[in-house]
Amino acid sequence: MSTTSQFTERDVSEFFDQTTQTYLSFWDSEGVLHTGYFAGPDDTDYPAAADRTSDLLATEAGIDASATVLDVGCGCGNFLLRLAERTGCRGEGVDLSIERVRFALGKLTERGDGLPVAFRHGSATALPYDDGGFSHVVSQDALFLVPDKARSHAEMYRVLAPGGTLAVTDFLQPVAEIGEAARRHVYDRVRWSSGYSLDGYREALTAAGFEVTVARSLDDHIRQTYRVLGETARQRAAATDDEAARQWILGFAASCDEIQAAIDRGEFGWGMFVARKPA
Ligand SMILES: C[S@@+](CC[C@H](N)C(=O)[O-])C[C@H]1O[C@@H](n2cnc3c(N)ncnc32)[C@H](O)[C@@H]1O
Repeated sequence: MSTTSQFTERDVSEFFDQTTQTYLSFWDSEGVLHTGYFAGPDDTDYPAAADRTSDLLATEAGIDASATVLDVGCGCGNFLLRLAERTGCRGEGVDLSIERVRFALGKLTERGDGLPVAFRHGSATALPYDDGGFSHVVSQDALFLVPDKARSHAEMYRVLAPGGTLAVTDFLQPVAEIGEAARRHVYDRVRWSSGYSLDGYREALTAAGFEVTVARSLDDHIRQTYRVLGETARQRAAATDDEAARQWILGFAASCDEIQAAIDRGEFGWGMFVARKPA
């Protein structure tokens, strides 16, 4: 058994900058990069499952037309654009990867329909926003990547208005000691330093001042996500001419098998959390 490796924010941003185009080629061409919430064990429709996660989180957060939303680790911007379209809310997205923010800004320009949404390059540990400016802070599968998690919690608390809501999905590290295969294929693969168990997550948010109302494990859905995406990756690799990209995608497909095994061994998980900043 071993502990996880240590990565810096720079390691993380380089990884997401360098892999943006590759992920677009086989994971989701619109740039969605989060765990799906599947309709049942035989469901293999990843795009629908990914949208379902977004809609579930929006419902849990209680986002409506009056909301001002910050999406931390917004990636290519899809969650915020969907939220604004479907609820009429306003919002900002911030991400550490310049390439992903560029993609999000491109999508916004292409649409040209004046949605009240903006995207910015920045870190969860130094949010470029005033105190108390948002009614909701949301995040999908991004906060696990932050090496200094206490700092990101303090920042999200700061930018929320009193009575505001934090709603996140995130990767979980259920146990302190993990095996070599999990370290290589789950943690090091995406430059993930370390994470919380479900209880540890709740305790960390509470320590930051939040009142946690939902802390739910959703391991079955992340297992299914990597089962479905592993199969998709193998099909895409067979149709990819660029040898370097093909090898990377095949490596990802092999990791998908190891990721499912790590979930079965209790070394990796996924959870949803909703918390309130006291009024
Ligand atoms: C797995 S992707 C999820 C992207 C997006 N939330 C989605 O659902 O498609 C993780 C994202 O977190 C971003 N990220 C990692 N560390 C961050 C940090 N310290 N501050 C802001 N974003 C960060 C990465 O650049 C990447 O875009």
